[in-house]
Amino acid sequence: MWCKRFIICAFALIGLMQAQDTSEKGKTIFNQRCAACHKLEQKLIGPPLARISERRSEAWFVKFVSNSQAFIQSGDAQAVAVFKEYNQQIMPPFTDLSEADIKSIWSYLNSVAAPAQSSMASANAASPSATQKTIVYPGEQNTLPPSEVASLRNVFWIITGVVVLVALLIGVVIHFASLRGSSSA
Ligand code: HEC
Repeated sequence: MWCKRFIICAFALIGLMQAQDTSEKGKTIFNQRCAACHKLEQKLIGPPLARISERRSEAWFVKFVSNSQAFIQSGDAQAVAVFKEYNQQIMPPFTDLSEADIKSIWSYLNSVAAPAQSSMASANAASPSATQKTIVYPGEQNTLPPSEVASLRNVFWIITGVVVLVALLIGVVIHFASLRGSSSA
């Protein structure tokens, strides 16, 4: 029965490590393959990519990164628009990156927290129609940006991992204590 506990603990730890791992891997790939043309917060040769989930879907991102020209030629409206906006510069295809690689870049880009001043500025610049909400339900009052949700999720996994580890340790201690108790009786 403590074997079962061990398995649960191992799964929790694997979950924790994977959550950390994907965005670490994405960061490495980004720095090696994308940073020549993209910064997180400012335009370089291509657009800034931090928190890209605020304007694109993950499926869109995967298609664009793996072969932007094919995607543009397929006539996708957003892809065509960004290509025109950046003076029809060609972003090279990354067909050697797997879908999992591209998704790890996605999770890295979306885990980048918004810089304090720029989020203030965008809050100020927000159009009145965006800030005016007729009814605000209590749960909606403090909606978190995706980057914070991501880091909260990491914290959740760390806490879960620690709790499971402690439970496991207690279990082991109880197990051995009861063994000793029954052998001496
Ligand atoms: C040689 C320069 C270059 C490299 C390297 C490059 N990009 Fe780009 N990227 C661009 C340009 C230029 C654009 C603007 C669209 C266009 O011209 O096709 C762009 C656009 C994008 C967009 C669309 C952004 C938006 O707002 O819609 C994404 C997403 C993107 N790049 C991701 C990546 C990722 C991820 C990598 C690395 C794997 C990468 N790019 C590497 C030049 C580059």
